Amino acid sequence: MATKRIGILTSGGDCAGLNAALRAVVHRAIRNYGWRVFGIRDGSMGLMERPLDFVEFDLSLVTGDMLRLGGTILGTINKGDPFHYPMPDGTFRDRSSEFVEGYRELGIEALVVIGGDGSMRILNQLCRQGGIPMVGIPKTIDNDVAHTDYAIGFSTALDVAGEAIDRLAPTAASHHRVMILEVMGRDVGHIAINAGVAGGADVILIPELPYTLEGIANKIADVRAEGRNHALLVVAEGCRTETGESITKIQSGGEARYGGIGQYLAARLTDLVDAETRVTVLGHVQRGGVPSMRDRVIASAFGVHAVDLISAGRLGRVVAWQHGQVVDVPITDVANITRAVDPFGTLAQTARGLGIYIGEMAS
Ligand code: F6P
Repeated sequence: MATKRIGILTSGGDCAGLNAALRAVVHRAIRNYGWRVFGIRDGSMGLMERPLDFVEFDLSLVTGDMLRLGGTILGTINKGDPFHYPMPDGTFRDRSSEFVEGYRELGIEALVVIGGDGSMRILNQLCRQGGIPMVGIPKTIDNDVAHTDYAIGFSTALDVAGEAIDRLAPTAASHHRVMILEVMGRDVGHIAINAGVAGGADVILIPELPYTLEGIANKIADVRAEGRNHALLVVAEGCRTETGESITKIQSGGEARYGGIGQYLAARLTDLVDAETRVTVLGHVQRGGVPSMRDRVIASAFGVHAVDLISAGRLGRVVAWQHGQVVDVPITDVANITRAVDPFGTLAQTARGLGIYIGEMAS
């Protein structure tokens, strides 16, 4: 029987733990099944380039150092949807057939896609169009992939955000300030609420819960009444203004990204709470760095299970982490579905129980 050939790619924003997942896939595929593994460079681009852009992995390329390495050695993209590919002249072209042709040219029999919910949707569509067997591995610091308690990258991002609060707290206390930390998360508040609870924030704002400036000011007044003249506020980048506008910036490359809600709040709160405010925007430091131990463990388990799924012919599935176990779910249950913070869930109730202001329940 001919040796099976599989491909693997990373798609969407990078995060810590991607290389650990690549390593696990290569180890399992080569050691256990004797397959050949081809790493496709820059997400879907590697199959659209001519010549194709890929590397064949062998075990010497996936040493233990991969566990400690942030980012993705394959490269990635978080724009350039092959169905709606931006051309230099400002127009868009459907390049999906080039991806499918590239897959055929490489002669692989299945594809492992490491991506978030958006990448899963696009890759799933591409694979269906081309009859390409695919399995998915969820990654994103936002932790918003459905049906998994953890996506690769979240744990490291949370550690970074938590450490940032630990580092801001002494300045808040020494200068009697309100320190505002803006964290990433796109449309969800998993990083914010987890880091805020872990770091002892007084106020945590997440996109899932509306807030009022008055509510924040009241909380800060309560803190003062309790004898503390400083406060910590964590805000998720995707939070809207009180009147419902999201704050975005056009980045080089022309795409809008969240950013600026921390400054907005600082400008409004300074007079309202009669305190000096300072804003820290954590940004991409949450994505890089040495992966946390949890991310390495989850990525390794995901990689091994993804290969086992291919071996078992259980395709069109995404691996997931549920109650301390690696499981798998249909990709259609995950693609483009966002897992938000549950306003009545454990984290939100814990925050409320600790007296943290997390906004108001929508009436
Ligand atoms: O989805 C991951 C993420 O880091 C978000 O938290 C953030 O809003 C976005 O990507 C930033 O994207 P970029 O790297 O394109 O600025």
